[in-house]
Amino acid sequence: MSVAPHAGNGKITVPDILSRKFHPLSAVSEKQPKITCITAYDYPTARLLDEAGVDILLVGDSLGMVVLGYDSTLPVTLEDIIHHTRAVRRGTRRALVVADMPYGSFHVSLDESVRNAVRLVKEGGAEAVKVEGGERRIELIARLVDAEIPVMGHVGLTPQSVNALGGFQVQGKTADAARQVERDARAVEAAGAFAVVLESMPRELAARITEKLHIPTIGIGAGPDCDGQVLVFHDLVGYATEHKAKFVRQYANLSAEISRAASEYCADVRSGRFPSDAESYHSAGELRERALARARS
Ligand code: KIV
Repeated sequence: MSVAPHAGNGKITVPDILSRKFHPLSAVSEKQPKITCITAYDYPTARLLDEAGVDILLVGDSLGMVVLGYDSTLPVTLEDIIHHTRAVRRGTRRALVVADMPYGSFHVSLDESVRNAVRLVKEGGAEAVKVEGGERRIELIARLVDAEIPVMGHVGLTPQSVNALGGFQVQGKTADAARQVERDARAVEAAGAFAVVLESMPRELAARITEKLHIPTIGIGAGPDCDGQVLVFHDLVGYATEHKAKFVRQYANLSAEISRAASEYCADVRSGRFPSDAESYHSAGELRERALARARS
């Protein structure tokens, strides 16, 4: 592999992410730049995001919805994530590449779950895996960490629980529900995760969890007080996503650009404006004749 993940060459590692945790009560802890994370599913996007300086590229199972066209993340397979993680890895030099464990890949025996995570590392090139769920995942996270696989937790709204939750709703809005989300976050930390995604919850709850944990929190729909933020790439660049959640800030409108480019192309082909002579190859004889004609004129 061309990129050796040791400190000093700019490569972001798991210890680097851990060191970005801000401990407000510690005299030695300095305010760190917030951690940036964006999902990526293919080589060109990974290259661009990596070159832009994104810290973590997450091969999320949101792949199922924004790339593969499913209406939930549930159909995404381990093979899908391995395939896309390989592509992202090939486009990444600096960022930490984290692969999501898709639904079904860790709802089996612990041994099989660890084998599945090992495949993400060995075959996909992931440097860490993400696992949805809190207290219920303590044993699994500990086993993965024991197998030298860094784990990013994910609590609050966990999209793989869409059927159990009855939809994609904000979590932790009542005092009881907030206590459960907090217990989940603490459990993930205690099990050995190096970071935890906090998804769709009141900002006050996310701030409280961020203050209490010793690992970085990475928020999505969890307000500005987390140690970092993550967004789905297609939401961020406005690329064929139909529903814009309240927490999404759209920084570009790729849908409009792609539609415009495709319509112009169709119009040019239909009218004969594309391809032009300059966009065509020519035979050697024709080129010679053109050169002679130019010399004569
Ligand atoms: O799959 C995904 O993209 C995610 C992020 C939204 C955190 O889990």
